[in-house]
Amino acid sequence: MIKCRKAVESLTPYLPGKPIEEVRREYGILEVTKLASNESQWGASPLALLAAREAVLESAVYPDGNCTELKDALSKKLGVPSEKILLGCGSDETIHLLGKTYINEGDECITGDVTFSTYAAAVDSMGGRTVYVPLRNHTFDLDGILAAITPRTKLIFIANPNNPTGTAITHKEQEEFIKKVPEDVLIFFDEAYQEFVKTPSFPNTIEFLPKYRNVILSKTFSKIYGLAAFRVGYMIADPEIIDCVNRIRPPFNVNSVAQKAAVAALSDDEFVQKVARENRGALGYLQSELDKMGISYIPSETNFLMIDVAKNAQEVFVELMKEGYIVRSGAPFGEETYIRVTTGTLAQMSGFIEKLKKVLGK
Ligand SMILES: Cc1ncc(COP(=O)(O)O)c(C=O)c1O
Repeated sequence: MIKCRKAVESLTPYLPGKPIEEVRREYGILEVTKLASNESQWGASPLALLAAREAVLESAVYPDGNCTELKDALSKKLGVPSEKILLGCGSDETIHLLGKTYINEGDECITGDVTFSTYAAAVDSMGGRTVYVPLRNHTFDLDGILAAITPRTKLIFIANPNNPTGTAITHKEQEEFIKKVPEDVLIFFDEAYQEFVKTPSFPNTIEFLPKYRNVILSKTFSKIYGLAAFRVGYMIADPEIIDCVNRIRPPFNVNSVAQKAAVAALSDDEFVQKVARENRGALGYLQSELDKMGISYIPSETNFLMIDVAKNAQEVFVELMKEGYIVRSGAPFGEETYIRVTTGTLAQMSGFIEKLKKVLGK
């Protein structure tokens, strides 16, 4: 057997949410709702789907490797020059590209415990080491992270809002933090769920970019835009960083259909506003029903909610699945009594609450 690289030996594959088809097969039920992967339950913008349908007809031609049209659309929308933007096959890819670009063996990254697992995968796979700082009140502990910085620290990953807890740090906290991080340490703010946030104190990270050249902002089309299947994410950073990462980017990493869909999605503000509004309604409904049941949860700024079922989460996860609802058990995140539930339409939420009552005997 040919041995893989040493850094790869200790990695474990990403654990995705359980697919609907698998649950149908395993439990013999037809009606299955997946609330496990923070996908949009409102689908995608009709404009994006129309653009994708047209783009499929050009399947024999390689994509524009530079994603010129999409970069220009983002540049216009965000007020950021194109040379500060790098597109990836999901932000999963941009995170991995960052690891490949900057992590030498023995380098460290710092992130929260718990958070999105791709950060550690990107660093550990390069022979780096991930240093985990426990969350404080389910939120990134910025002072704890500052205290964990060593001469080996290369990268700091902050999911804002955080996945799986749904909590956010504020503009002021972020700025104070950035000021204290050494200039040769990159700070990656992952705002995959930013469009769902309602708190006015949420950071305007783009504002920090010209002043702090070690700041990177990451965004995705997978969440509010409902384009998870197309795989489009991007990062915004200093042109020097973008230039380095671009050197190892696969030449056609974002396919043509995805590029066209993303451009169209950007023009559909009405859709984004509708999803944000309906998501807030669903979140409010879910939280008020849980309040009535006396069940606690972590107040969320996103399209998911961590619910403390005060029982073995893995068992509750399985019981809910038998009832046709796929959620996430908090157990793999180290949150043994929590389940993470993606918000959806009011009909989905009321169906879920009914089954949760049944499973918890409420
Ligand atoms: C915090 C965070 N960042 C990034 C991603 C991945 O996004 P993408 O689909 O763009 O790879 C996720 C997906 O769940 C996430 O939770």
